Amino acid sequence: MRFDLLLQIHLFAVAFWLGVVAVEYLLERTRAQSRNQGFTVARLHRKIDLFFEMPAFTVVLVTGLLLIEPARFDGIYALKVVAGGIAVLGNALCLVPVLKRRASAETDDLADVIHQSKMIDRISLLAIPAGLLALACGVYLTVLR
Ligand code: HEM
Repeated sequence: MRFDLLLQIHLFAVAFWLGVVAVEYLLERTRAQSRNQGFTVARLHRKIDLFFEMPAFTVVLVTGLLLIEPARFDGIYALKVVAGGIAVLGNALCLVPVLKRRASAETDDLADVIHQSKMIDRISLLAIPAGLLALACGVYLTVLR
């Protein structure tokens, strides 16, 4: 596949993914409003992850891997690829507590819902800055073009 087309698909998936993450962030901020809201957030976040976020970051990863030119793997370019990789890995890891939390919501286990929510926050604290760093490096590489 041509480099330009791959890059366009990569950027489209990145933009879509960042939009999904922004919605999830706002949703998570409402989870402490009530017990019911916490359970609703657990169910919605699982659906968003499975139907939108996972496909988006899979496209980002596959196109990103295909775009890599090993000869250029240095400096900002390498930082961008590594940061992007950490962001994808973090989001993939986040699926575990998201699925567990939804299962706990179904059994009315509030303590575990809270525990899994904290796990999601911890992973996000690594994945979101890594994604933003990848974005900044990507914008820098675009400007250099
Ligand atoms: C949050 C995740 C990511 C963001 C925000 C992101 C963002 C971007 C942006 C804005 C560009 C355009 C740069 C240009 O025009 O040259 C780009 C290109 C690229 N991305 Fe990503 N990306 C992400 C994840 C990944 C991953 C996971 C990989 C590889 C494993 C990757 C590899 C690449 C490569 C190789 C290019 C082409 C750079 C060039 O040729 O100059 N990206 N990305």
